[in-house]
Amino acid sequence: MFIAIDGIDGSGITTHCKLLCNWIESLGLKVHLTKEPSSGKIGELIRHYLKLKDIPAAVDALLFAADRVEHCIEIKSYLDKGYIVISDRYVESSRAYQVAEGLPPDWVDLINRYAITPDLNIILDVEPRIALKRKFGRDIGDEKFEELEFLTRVREIMLKNARLRNYPIVDTNKSIEEVHRSLREIILGKFRDVGIII
Ligand code: TYD
Repeated sequence: MFIAIDGIDGSGITTHCKLLCNWIESLGLKVHLTKEPSSGKIGELIRHYLKLKDIPAAVDALLFAADRVEHCIEIKSYLDKGYIVISDRYVESSRAYQVAEGLPPDWVDLINRYAITPDLNIILDVEPRIALKRKFGRDIGDEKFEELEFLTRVREIMLKNARLRNYPIVDTNKSIEEVHRSLREIILGKFRDVGIII
């Protein structure tokens, strides 16, 4: 099973992905945690570019999509070995961030055509102001997308896409424990649906 978790910066994706992995392991299941941007060469380049801020949106989109093509090779290899794979960010981040940068949604979908479709895509939702305060203690971070107005746009697009595709949306204004419990319930439901646990 392939699970992707997306949200705006500061929504708690990394924290919750780690907690979920520990919990899945405790159920006796094999789990692989991975993330985008990846730790590969293209992921490294993306991290460098995120600090520069003046990179054209289409370059961002193409780099994230290229990084994802490589990332999918890794994901597939773990899925083939029977692992549950959790990705900290995936295509929904491109569908929201790069569209919020002004790119056409159809084109973003097209360049992500070779990305494996997750079995479950969860969106973590939080007020951008709270998210930025949580992450940086102020309304702006150091990287390109970490800014209130932009993240407000990203959030709107991400929520709209999530509703269209029926993805579960989890409110992360709540405590870490409460959010973790909600996430567990969603994932347990999916595990039962596909017979991973009874
Ligand atoms: P982030 O998860 O914040 O990385 P880290 O926690 O290691 O700093 O991701 C970096 C940024 O990249 C974040 O602002 C979201 C953005 N992003 C996109 O714009 N498009 C994408 O497709 C992905 C995966 C991330």
